[in-house]
Amino acid sequence: MPQTLKLASRASLLTRGFPEIWAELGCKAPARVIKTHKTLEDMPGPNALAFFTDLFCKRGLARLHELQIEGKARYGPVWKASFGPILTVHVAEPSLIEQVLRQEGKHPIRSDLSSWKDYRVCRGHAYGLLTAEGEEWQKIRSILGKHMLKPKEVESYTGTLNGVVSDLIRRLQHQRRQHRGWGWTDLPETPHSTPNTPPPQGLMCLTLSGFISLGISSVLFDSRIGCLEPEMPKETETFIRSINRMFVMTLLTMAMPKFLHHIFPKPWKIFCESWDYMFAFGERHIDKRISEVAEKVSRGETVEGKYLTYYLAQEKLSMKSIYGNVTELLLAGVDTISSTLSWSLYELSRHPRVQAAVHEEITGVMKGSAIPSAADVAQMPLLKAVMKESLRLYPVIPGNARVISDRDIQVGEYLIPRKTLITLCHYATSRDARFFPEPDSFRPERWLQKDASHHPYASIPFGVGKRSCIGRRIAELEVHLALARILMQFEVKPEPEGCRVRPMTRTLLVPEKDINLQFMSR
Ligand code: HEM
Repeated sequence: MPQTLKLASRASLLTRGFPEIWAELGCKAPARVIKTHKTLEDMPGPNALAFFTDLFCKRGLARLHELQIEGKARYGPVWKASFGPILTVHVAEPSLIEQVLRQEGKHPIRSDLSSWKDYRVCRGHAYGLLTAEGEEWQKIRSILGKHMLKPKEVESYTGTLNGVVSDLIRRLQHQRRQHRGWGWTDLPETPHSTPNTPPPQGLMCLTLSGFISLGISSVLFDSRIGCLEPEMPKETETFIRSINRMFVMTLLTMAMPKFLHHIFPKPWKIFCESWDYMFAFGERHIDKRISEVAEKVSRGETVEGKYLTYYLAQEKLSMKSIYGNVTELLLAGVDTISSTLSWSLYELSRHPRVQAAVHEEITGVMKGSAIPSAADVAQMPLLKAVMKESLRLYPVIPGNARVISDRDIQVGEYLIPRKTLITLCHYATSRDARFFPEPDSFRPERWLQKDASHHPYASIPFGVGKRSCIGRRIAELEVHLALARILMQFEVKPEPEGCRVRPMTRTLLVPEKDINLQFMSR
């Protein structure tokens, strides 16, 4: 037997039941079969009613990240629960998460039951990288990977991103001079945006999605969507609000069995309307950019592009696919970065000694220069550790997922049937005291201690492997550049008598309420 065949049949022996194997060998199965692995039936977990009550009556949807920790304490590292109509196996141990991801196959699937896919099918939109599967996903991934994963390519966005950070600093300085209310908020519905009482000096309400959408739109279109103007353009405001609503409705629509969509149509309706707006927004900006380029060509001018829409167009992707991808990239690049930057500044404001050490590191590297480059931030290990530690405490995606569709897989002592939705509990592992002593404390220096090792899968905020975050390098560069510049200009302090802000799950992990900070000029 050739070697490969031998290995394959050994693997299949592992994943099949003994009666099956006995039958194949032409033998009668022994009366009592000794089980080598446990099955879903043996797996602990809350009954459907208890979980449903937790989710809908005890604010469980917003507390899904906490339910991971509670679930692990109650049932151990692997348990099952029914999320509405979907049975999902939770895995909350780094070594077991590693085991799942190592078996994810050639074209990993995040979740095949996503309401995001249902929406695209319903409206006839193309899938983007977030939602595509199989060969289609592979094709888009390799096109985008060329421009988003290679360090040199990503470094070339430094100038663009620094331009956006300069706008942000100007805006902060302007607001400090103006003493205009609570300073900077994005959305009119934020309670502090029309205050009656003057705020303490330099107090800003830190809702950063406006700034961040500038960053991602620069990378995508080489143009800004204007969020740092005194008045945010209506369409940008609605776009950001649509992202928020869509995320809120994602969990709800997934947890509701489909027949309930007819009885309670509102969540699905809001979900679809939000996506409709986001797609229309993406399309408008792409069309605008394309017609600008066409005009230049007609005037005989040379057109050079350093933005992703241009690269996608060069690859001769269909317009439908460009719309789908750009919309998904816009979406993926807004709340993720703004939440990470907000938490980083929030924790630094509460840890003045860490902030002073980071400031010292920055000024040491910058030696009087005003604007950091990618090479400068590469020499700032503590600054980078601040981002890592913030993502450990507040992983933007608190629970990721995988579906292994073509075979059953072994996870710990269990055999998980193919097509089962497996939830990877990153929030629980990254707050586990066995891997991170004092797990709820903000201690960026832990990432600099060479002897302190933790399991490599204990904190993986960008995921690992073929389907990991494609925007990771851009996100890291943008957060590092923004943090460095903000700390060079300002000392960041907490709101006087400000209380603790907790995270909540809204598909993504976000601050439960506004983060208010004081920016004192240095
Ligand atoms: C701090 C910021 C960010 C965090 C923590 C983050 C985290 C993640 C995670 C956990 C995943 C899933 C990985 C997996 O399933 O293994 C993901 C996927 C993805 N992210 Fe990010 N992300 C961030 C920023 C961005 C940005 C800025 C962009 C776009 C410019 C982006 C685009 C994407 C896309 C397109 C995918 C899907 C990749 C695929 O399916 O092949 N992300 N991200």
